Amino acid sequence: MTILGIETSCDETALALLETREKSGVFECRVINSLVHSQAELHSAYGGVYPNLAKREHQKNLMPLLEKLLEPLYGNDFMEKNNGIDLIAVTEGPGLEPALWTGIVFAQELASKWKVPIVPIDHMEGHIVASLLESDIPQGSWQRLKNLPLPAIALLISGGHTQLININSIGDYEIVGETLDDAVGEAFDKVARLLGLPYPGGPHISLLANQARDQNIQSQVKLPRPMISSKNFDFSFSGLKTAVLYAVKKAQESDQFTDEYKKGLALEFEQAVSDVLDAKLRNAIQKYNSLSIIIGGGVSANHLLRQTFEKTANEFDIPIFLPSKHLSGDNALMIAIAGALHDKSSYSTELRAHGTKRLSVK
Ligand code: KG4
Ligand code: ZN
Repeated sequence: MTILGIETSCDETALALLETREKSGVFECRVINSLVHSQAELHSAYGGVYPNLAKREHQKNLMPLLEKLLEPLYGNDFMEKNNGIDLIAVTEGPGLEPALWTGIVFAQELASKWKVPIVPIDHMEGHIVASLLESDIPQGSWQRLKNLPLPAIALLISGGHTQLININSIGDYEIVGETLDDAVGEAFDKVARLLGLPYPGGPHISLLANQARDQNIQSQVKLPRPMISSKNFDFSFSGLKTAVLYAVKKAQESDQFTDEYKKGLALEFEQAVSDVLDAKLRNAIQKYNSLSIIIGGGVSANHLLRQTFEKTANEFDIPIFLPSKHLSGDNALMIAIAGALHDKSSYSTELRAHGTKRLSVK
């Protein structure tokens, strides 16, 4: 089966083509191509994603991206006939509704032209399954998805979400904890802004924190670890951001807001986030008897966090599945893989955008 994945939930316009087959009863897939067009630079002027701009950009970018994906394979009349695409997988939510709609409408147009079904996909399920793909095999090679010992615990950390999910099986998801205010990526982005760094801020904070480590710079302030000792699995990051705001103001007033100060603060912020996420992850592993860990979402590109979670997995002696760097952020390959794992009963043409969709049992 050949699946076209479409992802437009936020500020990445993404398309991917995935081929699947069953060999001796085992599911196998191969990545034909995966393209991501990031709008991050455009949104940086607003310090965050501006929904109507995202929508306009998706509308502008989808067709040229489809051409880039399909023309080399099927020639320049790729739109006119169905060249063997069997299924379209499109993100229906959660995300920015105007942005989601552009992907959905595009999927519907292609589906009616090519007479193929559509499978609506939850963006967060995409982030979960992204970690199951082998990263170090050449594009185009057949592969089996990694075997996921169950129950698994997933920690999804992105610009829009921070969730701990108990996974009984692929398709059976229970959100056991989430942020009560800002998502962890959002906190990175807001703190970056306070430090005068561009959007998206996560990689810039991480860079400053690494410099602090290399240059042996210590933070001059101690930041809180919000909710680290609470008995539940929820998170709160807005207080942490406010603590950074006060620290920045104080340093500015006393003329101490130097590059060195910023590096120390970035280091302390990253460590505070890591401490909180790791504490909750450890508690969840114990409570849900998790046999494996999945990490997903754009923030999972963070080096300190990857190291910390790997150490935790080691201590519990369970495997950890981290997405390769190019699959940690938003992409359409993860949507196509999720689509491949759904059965026909979830195919639908009656789609609508669910901005606040929540993962549950399929
Ligand atoms: O999953 P994603 O690409 O989009 C959403 O669905 O939100 O995540 C984007 C988020 C941004 O907030 C960005 O600052 C953050 O991921 N991010 C990072 C790093 N790379 C990206 N945060 C911390 N460290 C990084 N290295
Ligand atoms: Zn995402």
